[in-house]
Amino acid sequence: MSLKNKIYIDNIPKHIAIIMDGNGRWAKKIGKNRNAGHKAGSKSVEKVVEACTELGVEALTLFAFSTENWNRPKIEINLLMKLLLLSLNKELENLNKNNIRFKTIGDLDRLPKKVQSYLKKVSKETQNNTRMTLTLAISYGAREEIINAIKTIGDKVKNNLISLKNIDESVINQHLYTHYLPDVDLLIRTSGEKRISNFLLWQIAYAELYFTKKLWPDFSKEDLYEAIINYQKRERRFGKTSEQVN
Ligand code: FPP
Repeated sequence: MSLKNKIYIDNIPKHIAIIMDGNGRWAKKIGKNRNAGHKAGSKSVEKVVEACTELGVEALTLFAFSTENWNRPKIEINLLMKLLLLSLNKELENLNKNNIRFKTIGDLDRLPKKVQSYLKKVSKETQNNTRMTLTLAISYGAREEIINAIKTIGDKVKNNLISLKNIDESVINQHLYTHYLPDVDLLIRTSGEKRISNFLLWQIAYAELYFTKKLWPDFSKEDLYEAIINYQKRERRFGKTSEQVN
C-alpha cells in the first residue's frame, strides 16, 4: 500500500524546500561518472514535482545550484546547465498543463546568456499558473540574498522611502528573492548530510527539518510521502507552549 494513504490532506505543508544532494555519490556507487548522477537526479525532480502537485503543496523550492557550486570543474557546470535547459524544454508544456508557475531565485547574471533567457521565457510563459509555484534556486546563496536585501533597504532609508523604525520582518520578506513565497514549512535534505549549506536561511526560521540517507537519484514519491507523514507527526509550536498550541 502506498504511504500516500497515510497523509492527512488537511495538513499538507504549504511550502516544501529540498536540498537535493548525493548525485555524485549515487553515480560512484554504480561505477558511473558524476554526470550520470545528475541525469538520474533530474528524473527525481520530475517525480517530486508531480507528487507535490498531486498533493496540493502550494510551493516547492529546489536547490539546483549554489553560489559555491561555481567552484566545481567547468565540465560538470556545463553539464548541469545543459541538463537544466533540456529539462525545462521538456517540461514547459507539462508545467502549463498542470497549472504550475515556474520561478527562479539566485544571481542569474552569472549564468550563460542562453540559460538566462530560457529561464526568463519559462517564467514568463507560466506566470499566470496558480496550482503550485515551483522555484529553482540557481546560483543561489542565502547570505548573498540577505546582503542584497539590506543594501536595497538601506538605499530606501537613505532616500526616505522607508523609515528606520518601520523595518520589520515583513519589510525584510518583501526584499528577499522569495518575496512571493510563504515561509518554508518542511525542509528536506537527502544523502545523509545534516547541513543547511546557505539555503533559505531567513525563510526556514520555523521550518521542520527532515534528513534522509537516501541519495537524491533514489528519492521517490514514497520517500516524499514519508517525509510529509513525519512532518505531520510533529507539533509545531512557533515558540508557544504545547498547551497554547492545542
Ligand atoms: C547535489 O549532488 C546536486 C546538485 C549540485 C545539483 C542538482 C541537480 C540536479 C538534481 C539535476 C538537474 C536539475 C534540474 C532542476 C533539472 P552532488 O553533486 O553534490 O552529489 P555528491 O555530494 O554525492 O557529490
